[in-house]
Amino acid sequence: MVSQIRFLMCAPDHYNVDYVINPWMEGNIHKSSRDHAVEQWNKLYNNIKNHAIVDLVTPEKGWPDMVFSANAGLVLGKNVVVSRFLHKERQGEEPYFQQWFEQNGYNVYSLPKDLPFEGAGDALLDREGRWLWAGYGFRSELDSHPYLAKWLDIEVISLRLTDERFYHLDTCFCPLSNGYLLYYPGAFDSYSNRVIEMRVAPEKRIPIAEADAVNFACNAVNVDSIVIMNKASESLKSRLAEVGFQVIETPLTEFLKAGGAAKCLTLRVTEPIAEEVHANVSVESRIIRMEGHLLDAGLINRALDLIVEMGGSFQVLKFNLGEQRQSTSAAEVRVSAPSHEVMEEIISQLIDLGAVDLPQDQRDSKLEPVVQAGVAPDDFYVSTIYPTEIRVNGEWLNVQNQRMDGAIAISQTANGIVAKCKLLRDLEIGDRVVVDVLGIRTIRKAESREQRNSQEFSFMSSGVSSERRVELVVEQVAWELRKIKDSGGKVVVTAGPVVIHTGGGEHLSRLIREGYVQGLLGGNAIAVHDMEQNILGTSLGVDMKRGVVVRGGHRHHLKVINTVRRFGSIAKAVEAGVVKSGVMYECVKNNIPFSLAGSIRDDGPLPDTQMNLILAQQEYSQIIQGAEMILMLSSMLHSIGVGNMTPAGVKMVCVDINPAVVTKLSDRGSIESVGVVTDVGLFLSLLIQQLDKLTSPYVARVA
Ligand code: ARG
Repeated sequence: MVSQIRFLMCAPDHYNVDYVINPWMEGNIHKSSRDHAVEQWNKLYNNIKNHAIVDLVTPEKGWPDMVFSANAGLVLGKNVVVSRFLHKERQGEEPYFQQWFEQNGYNVYSLPKDLPFEGAGDALLDREGRWLWAGYGFRSELDSHPYLAKWLDIEVISLRLTDERFYHLDTCFCPLSNGYLLYYPGAFDSYSNRVIEMRVAPEKRIPIAEADAVNFACNAVNVDSIVIMNKASESLKSRLAEVGFQVIETPLTEFLKAGGAAKCLTLRVTEPIAEEVHANVSVESRIIRMEGHLLDAGLINRALDLIVEMGGSFQVLKFNLGEQRQSTSAAEVRVSAPSHEVMEEIISQLIDLGAVDLPQDQRDSKLEPVVQAGVAPDDFYVSTIYPTEIRVNGEWLNVQNQRMDGAIAISQTANGIVAKCKLLRDLEIGDRVVVDVLGIRTIRKAESREQRNSQEFSFMSSGVSSERRVELVVEQVAWELRKIKDSGGKVVVTAGPVVIHTGGGEHLSRLIREGYVQGLLGGNAIAVHDMEQNILGTSLGVDMKRGVVVRGGHRHHLKVINTVRRFGSIAKAVEAGVVKSGVMYECVKNNIPFSLAGSIRDDGPLPDTQMNLILAQQEYSQIIQGAEMILMLSSMLHSIGVGNMTPAGVKMVCVDINPAVVTKLSDRGSIESVGVVTDVGLFLSLLIQQLDKLTSPYVARVA
């Protein structure tokens, strides 16, 4: 039976693997046998001819991939969008295919130059004609999709390919009759997989395993209930049989060497139009502007990488390169995303890099009221550590209390409109909260190469440094501490009990005593073990001098807690002379504010430990207010908590023996944070030595 379905094919007269433009071609240059290829192609041709009509386009010498007629263009009814090949190796095929379409009476649409689109290789019609699935990521550009929707008057669903072996949509995705879909989920990003799952009911989806995928099982020609492909596993064949499809295998191994198989070798030129469908595309684009040391500081690369990693695409519209070392560059970039949802995610990340949405210059932020106390409207903008401005009534307004993971709330006060970062729980009915990503900009310091290189912290800006430069870091931290102390600035320390266990207690005590620390944050444990050590000479029952476990020592810390509880507070225990030295002693004696945040595992707790975590968070944020530097010493929990409250610009030094903790904290994308992977006791002892070197001449003179 021959239905009215027609295909266009191109005989392999000039077929060969002459270059490498996909991973399959690698290692296969001139390794394909023409005779063998001709034989395989003829079998496919005859197979298809049993079920449909096949037209032929004349093969052209010098264009070996022209056999893959799927890439000629995309046909729907009488219209065709001809391909614009990404690689110059195939661009020469374009006029021949175009000529064939013209001679056969199609309306030909051509995309703008430099907008790659590789035809039916990357665009597959739902077999019921409901919509068009269009791929992007390797060969076709996302920005071609709106043209397809407009010219072919159909809904386009964009899918992002992420595995370079499956560089064309038709290598991993095959819509079948009756709404079935044969596909390899591993070839798509998770957003696209979600989109597929939303459109195709579970009973209609036939996901295949990698073993079938690499045999190009998805690269199949479907005519009614027949599915023609290179090769299929027994399980795939029976799965397809269950739902009424008959698989015809026809080996195409010679073409696999060029990265193609059955479907690639054909183009369906009779694609029926479903009456009721119309143009629709969820692809969005926006223009953003960036300014600064875009190249020097690597900002432009980061922005472009981020767009692509998050599933979008871009076109650089303008780039004014600052020519002098000091001068800044400016860029305008068109960002495209497959949907509004993805666009919002991309833009909010770009805002962090200092980008401004161009038309935003004329747009206010979008505000929505809080209707339930402690709950933000959906789509609220999540704040970051960077100084932020929002546009209200045509004016840019500074956001106060900058911190990450809050919402930006506007309220009317006697002094006018005020914008503040607020925690969700602090939102009040009547606040208006910034939603979406319009009218928001963050201010990134524009550092030049010189500034970055001369900054004390810049050498550490590469993030985490392990032993290699611990000493160097210590030198710089010491210098910084000294500077802040001399200028009357503020340094806050967060510390975990490991500081005490590793023998760092005496060093931290000295730092406090000598005026290098203006606030201490921790939990119940640091205080308990510090006082245990100073009262009983053990830390968690281990004798700190001899390093051995003391009999009954595990009870020591409870004894200490009990004693302090008897006095009512750490300060009172110090006054009473029970605690005579140590970290907590120095805090009390030197009037250094501290906050101990409680947790579920706390013994006691000490009377000072704040077991109400909301209050503890408030105490913490009060203490870090105005800090220039935060030393985070081996306390993952408290350090991360502090990191979340701290705006960009505050220097953070995170010391932990566990690289994961350090990475997490120094990964804030701000150059002021540095991680040191080392033993904290060792770090503190080096720091003290270094400070002694810095201070001794001064001390000597006084004496
Ligand atoms: N060597 C060709 C290329 O890389 C193979 C094209 C396969 N065609 C397809 N529709 N998947 O362009």
